Amino acid sequence: MSASEKWTAPRVRGLKGRRRIAMLTAYDCPTARLLDAAGIPIALVGDSVGMTQLGYETTLPVTLEQMIHHTAAVARGAGRALVVADLPFLSYQPSLADAIRSAGRLVKEAGADAVKLEGGEAYADTVRALIACGIPVMGHVGLLPQSVRALGGYRTQGRTEESAERIRRDARALDEAGCFAIVLECIPAGLAAEITRAVSAPTIGIGAGPECDGQVLVVNDLLGLSERTPGFVRPYARLRETIGEAFAKFRQDVESGAFPGAPG
Ligand code: KIV
Repeated sequence: MSASEKWTAPRVRGLKGRRRIAMLTAYDCPTARLLDAAGIPIALVGDSVGMTQLGYETTLPVTLEQMIHHTAAVARGAGRALVVADLPFLSYQPSLADAIRSAGRLVKEAGADAVKLEGGEAYADTVRALIACGIPVMGHVGLLPQSVRALGGYRTQGRTEESAERIRRDARALDEAGCFAIVLECIPAGLAAEITRAVSAPTIGIGAGPECDGQVLVVNDLLGLSERTPGFVRPYARLRETIGEAFAKFRQDVESGAFPGAPG
């Protein structure tokens, strides 16, 4: 593939076993532009936008309208990157018709190239219905933030044999339903490695060890903007400090008259 070519869901799927896949979340146009310039093939407009940008405690309050707003901004800047938009809580769970309408709006109104949904076996028919409409689907198993109330918190999943077996089944069901990639969130590295070998779609891990086909991070965590980060995150920059210092310096300069200074 030439460097100038747009990433598509089939191309991403074709990377399995050939090249590891980097994916980052993006919630706005400038971040999408930078991500694309760095050659990152997938921009995920995660419903984590609710926690990272909108100040919610969980992803549960995020609405489809908010996802459309942020996805459209990312799509305007994404260039070659594949734009994957999260289907937010209750936008796809009630019925296949709801799922098709919600995913359709993300593609048609916001310019998403694909959608992501949380859940396994129970959503295999939803994945099939979306694919039948021409919408590529990324799956998501393991820790499912939209189920945080049922899970009792943001905890590693798949630690017991029963839970591990459910996650294996979920990943296989999504693979068979045709997902072009599957996110594995917060599961033991051994289980993620096993699932990665068992499914034909590339797996993209977050807190799931090194043997996934790719890795995703929340951009705020990678940039060192988050107040708290999970232990598996590696901050590649320390922007909280940098921005805090810049703001404090600006305030001092305004108060002292150093900015804007004497007219030139
Ligand atoms: O919403 C999100 O950012 C996600 C990633 C953590 C995979 O789903």
